[in-house]
Amino acid sequence: AQNAKESLYIVSQFAATFFEEQLWNNSEGKAIGLSYFKERGFREDIIKKFNLGYSPDVWDALTQDAVKNKHAEEYLEKTGLSIRNDKGKLYDRFRGRVMFPIHNFTGRVIGFGGRTLKTDKNVPKYVNSPESEIYHKSNVLYGLFHAKKAIRDLDNCYLVEGYADVLSVHQAYIENVVASSGTSLTIEQIRLIGRFTQNVTILYDGDAAGIKASLRGLDMILEEGLNVKVVSFPAGDDPDSYMHKVGAGAFKTYIEDNRQDFILYKANILLAEAGTDPIKRAGIIRDIVESIAKIPDNIKASVFIRECSSLLQIEERVLLSELNTMRAAKF
Ligand code: UTP
Ligand code: MN
Ligand code: MN
Ligand code: MN
Ligand code: MN
Repeated sequence: AQNAKESLYIVSQFAATFFEEQLWNNSEGKAIGLSYFKERGFREDIIKKFNLGYSPDVWDALTQDAVKNKHAEEYLEKTGLSIRNDKGKLYDRFRGRVMFPIHNFTGRVIGFGGRTLKTDKNVPKYVNSPESEIYHKSNVLYGLFHAKKAIRDLDNCYLVEGYADVLSVHQAYIENVVASSGTSLTIEQIRLIGRFTQNVTILYDGDAAGIKASLRGLDMILEEGLNVKVVSFPAGDDPDSYMHKVGAGAFKTYIEDNRQDFILYKANILLAEAGTDPIKRAGIIRDIVESIAKIPDNIKASVFIRECSSLLQIEERVLLSELNTMRAAKF
């Protein structure tokens, strides 16, 4: 089994090298893939650092080259790089896409995300590798290998939604950034971050889906006992688009100046939704206390209760009794 797993790593690395080769040294790859990255404003050093690539727009370019180089069909199938059709013939999963190899935290390639270059709404924007013996999506953070040292040194981890966000934040010289790509944030991913730092700053998209995901992520992070802050982006922007809009320096300043603690972030979103409706406002208070109730550390929780009290102008003892009721209900 150890050898089989090793074979999956080897064929994945072969594919990463193949896609990278296509991007830099093949005329189609250069004209389509490399131009695409450059038009998006990615610098060459970033494209190289993350080993980005291009998959040719034909049925079986990778499959053929892998077989020619003596990689067994079995491993191409098991990594999901190749798919077998009804007639028993293998074809490439990734075709005509720019490729983002996914590394585990020791730096080995375990999977891929491939972005379409088409604007056709019927084509999925990203195709990802399926689960395999070496790729368990829920346990992987995109970018961790390149971020782990900075996460430890700076004692903070920025969490973004997408592959491109990781690259752009790096491009702004901020290296402590990872994405929960291809899945919504999981407990395993939070625990993985927890091995490097106790402090997470969420940088999710400024769209409805991103806000919803950030609120969910925030509660999960609190529940794991980590500290969480949030930076929100203007509606319609994600960290990637915003970085390219304002530039690296202004981006860095923006995230430093707009870091909110989770209560303030949550309160602002919910208060804006509730307007002046008193029943809705009461619901918000409960909602925020519910987040605080997830914090395992009592002292931390009481600090946030005090903040919540002054922010929402509710007596601290009322919030504390609500907190105790919620905590009691958990057991
Ligand atoms: P987004 O839709 O925000 O895409 O999805 P993006 O990362 O900003 O992509 P660009 O900037 O248009 O290239 C966020 C992340 O969700 C996953 C990908 O990991 C993506 O980076 N995703 C999204 C998928 O896995 N499949 C999809 O079809 C879309
Ligand atoms: Mn799994
Ligand atoms: Mn989005
Ligand atoms: Mn996005
Ligand atoms: Mn984006």
